[in-house]
Amino acid sequence: MEKEAGSSFTLAGGEGCENKCAVPHDMNLISTVAAAFVLAFLMGFAASRLGLPPLVGYLLAGVAIGPFSPGFVADRDLAGQLAEIGVMLLMFGVGLHFSVADLLAVRRIAIPGAIGQIVIATLIGAGIMLAAGWSWGGALVVGISLSVASTVVMLKALEERGAVGSPNGRIAVGWLIVEDLVMVLALVLIPALAPALGGTAIHTAHGGEDSPGVLWALMISLIKVTVFIGLALLIGPRVMPWILRQAARTGSRELFTLAVLAAALGIAFASAKLFGVSFALGAFFAGMVMNESELSHKAATNSLPLQDAFAVLFFVSVGMLFDPTVLVREPVLVVAVLLVILVGKTLASFGIVWLLGFPASTGLMVSASLAQIGEFSFILAGLGVGLGLMPMEGLNLVLAGALLSITVNPLVFAASDRLQRLIDANPRLRAQWEQARSGPLEQLQADLEAARAGKQGRAEARRTFTPAELADRFPFFAELTPEQREVLLLHFETETADPGTRVIRAGDEADKIYFISAGEAEVSINGQRIKLGPGDYFGEMALISGAPRSADVTATDYSKFAVLGRRDFNRFLQRFPHLRAHISAQAARRGEMNRQLQAGPDATPPEV
Ligand code: CMP
Repeated sequence: MEKEAGSSFTLAGGEGCENKCAVPHDMNLISTVAAAFVLAFLMGFAASRLGLPPLVGYLLAGVAIGPFSPGFVADRDLAGQLAEIGVMLLMFGVGLHFSVADLLAVRRIAIPGAIGQIVIATLIGAGIMLAAGWSWGGALVVGISLSVASTVVMLKALEERGAVGSPNGRIAVGWLIVEDLVMVLALVLIPALAPALGGTAIHTAHGGEDSPGVLWALMISLIKVTVFIGLALLIGPRVMPWILRQAARTGSRELFTLAVLAAALGIAFASAKLFGVSFALGAFFAGMVMNESELSHKAATNSLPLQDAFAVLFFVSVGMLFDPTVLVREPVLVVAVLLVILVGKTLASFGIVWLLGFPASTGLMVSASLAQIGEFSFILAGLGVGLGLMPMEGLNLVLAGALLSITVNPLVFAASDRLQRLIDANPRLRAQWEQARSGPLEQLQADLEAARAGKQGRAEARRTFTPAELADRFPFFAELTPEQREVLLLHFETETADPGTRVIRAGDEADKIYFISAGEAEVSINGQRIKLGPGDYFGEMALISGAPRSADVTATDYSKFAVLGRRDFNRFLQRFPHLRAHISAQAARRGEMNRQLQAGPDATPPEV
């Protein structure tokens, strides 16, 4: 079970070397990656020159190195696993731009929408297969396979149009997440229901006990998913940003990137193993809990190139699975399957969005995003074949449906854009289809904006200075490069003080240095008061000398300090000798001034 739950591409009956097999085993990975990248690049480039979307080239590259075409055959299982990494990284990237609050904001449309659309599309798909004389079990599996969209294709399409962050894009992504969650349940239910549907009972990894019963299986899996979401939301946002911060504080870019990748792949893998959710869903949650961190943008930038490369492998591996002869053997069913995906699903999701009171633009965006099938459909269909619910041809049909629907997806988007323009150009349609129904979308937009403002506020409260401000206020930091300043800032903590708060008590042991970012503080020496304001710092003398604090320091206004702990302070002085020179000189001047102040009122204080 665990295998099916996590992996999308390990198919029943999917042997790599049916007709031809060329490369020695120990070179499989290298030859597969090399062939996939080279061909995907060449064909993607050619497709682009012909005015087609590059992904058509990637799919054809897959067919070319797949077992169903002559010539070199790459390792299909390996390509599938590499593609899976692509899916994980992509979903992780989406999570990095998606907060828990965003997910909550779209739940009113995403939950009923995804569930309703899955039910309708499954019924249409299963109805057609039943009419074609297939068994109930096979019809149901094909129906469900056609009802779920491909994460990769949808995200790539949204990304290309810069729509991931728009309210409609967020709805589409939320919808996809709900679909993924429903599929986790479907993957549990189908094997449990298989005997009743005319298939074979599953044998669990522990060695062939009886099927535990549908309700039991469902309950266990619901509990696991709930525990997974609970852990992700409760512990994740506390732990993950902290880990990122620690990695960034080392100042090593490679360690930071590694932390990002380790979190993405590690969490995805562990969630699939422990909770039975898909790798993609695990990766999405990993990204989402990191979203709270101020470093999430840096994380996204660092993982982007890998995301792109591996996502290409997704399309290549789909092409490799495709057996073109199915087009000749079952032309009518292929067309029927394609119509379910392109027309049935599109109309169903548009209708649901409409019924929920949203404008036509939301319906068009969501239905175009869902008008294809992908990785989940392969797992489901593979599972159906493995359980004896349907013949291999069912999987071939689903694969043909995937390849064709992915290929024409850009056309579907173009058609939806056209419709949108038609509506926009016609004042009557616009009034009825957009303006009269804009309420729910505006509400949702307000929720999303509130979520963003909340996140910004939290980041603001944490932030001490930007690297530029740091150099402006404290000229001796100007000599550091912007990256060095960025790393230094990660070591700062924010502290605030109300007027009258004693920040440092004379005689205490020293533990940190304070840089004033706002407000005012007063040092009192021998009854004399010295005012310090933004751009000044204090607490350095005892840190450098190791002696107790030399004076009381009290906030005289609402103040905000950037505070550096003793260890970090020492480390920085060691790394940057000119900082040490500057701060030591300042401490010496202040010490001298204090000696004079203590010597009596007649002595003239030196400049500080
Ligand atoms: P420290 O001795 O660690 O704690 C008290 C701080 O007050 C001290 O470091 C200085 O940063 C600050 N301080 C002490 N004397 C003066 C002074 N004469 N002018 C400005 N700041 C002072």
